[in-house]
Amino acid sequence: MENEFKNLVISLHKQNKWKEILDLDINSHKQEVVRNLLWIWPSIDNMNFLKRLIIENDLNGLASVGCGCGLLEWMFREFSDMNVLGYEINKEWWTSKYSIPMFIDLIYCNQETKPKLNPKYALLFCYFNDGEAFRKYIRSYSGNLVFIIGPGEGKGTHTEPRPFKPGFENNNWMLHDYQEVKDTKDFIAAYIRK
Ligand SMILES: C[S@@+](CC[C@H](N)C(=O)[O-])C[C@H]1O[C@@H](n2cnc3c(N)ncnc32)[C@H](O)[C@@H]1O
Repeated sequence: MENEFKNLVISLHKQNKWKEILDLDINSHKQEVVRNLLWIWPSIDNMNFLKRLIIENDLNGLASVGCGCGLLEWMFREFSDMNVLGYEINKEWWTSKYSIPMFIDLIYCNQETKPKLNPKYALLFCYFNDGEAFRKYIRSYSGNLVFIIGPGEGKGTHTEPRPFKPGFENNNWMLHDYQEVKDTKDFIAAYIRK
């Protein structure tokens, strides 16, 4: 029963049916089972929002830090036909037999050594959970577009950074645009370099 949702997603992924995955009625499944795969379930409008801003800022793709199993990133790649990269820590976990399936190839990093981030990619932090690591990644990114996805007021979940309280360590970044993820009280905030 617990695996029903996961198996459905895996089977749709195998058939390349990303749109059907987006359209799944996640409310009819246990929240923790859904979040095991992905914390937010975006709409096509949300996908368009990401894509439009990447194009407007003359970038080539999306680099998602803390992408988990990469389900969002895979769906975005199928939707947009853009380059997508996913970064994760804990290679041991992701390559262990206990791990949930991965939908894209992950690039592993550790807390000490940060990967070289391509400035032609927008950075994405979706339900990221380490403010200090976030600031380190931002320090090593010379591009001009950062997306933060997480809860707005009253959602009752916690992320670090938060979409409207990002905690950048300087004033180089300004909120450029934002959009709610369906009507979930989760938001995608887009910050651009001043
Ligand atoms: C709450 S999960 C969100 C996963 C996915 N983005 C989603 O929305 O479903 C946070 C993820 O960030 C990863 N993470 C935490 N610290 C990290 C770091 N310093 N670098 C890369 N990934 C990190 C964790 O391993 C975890 O998979």
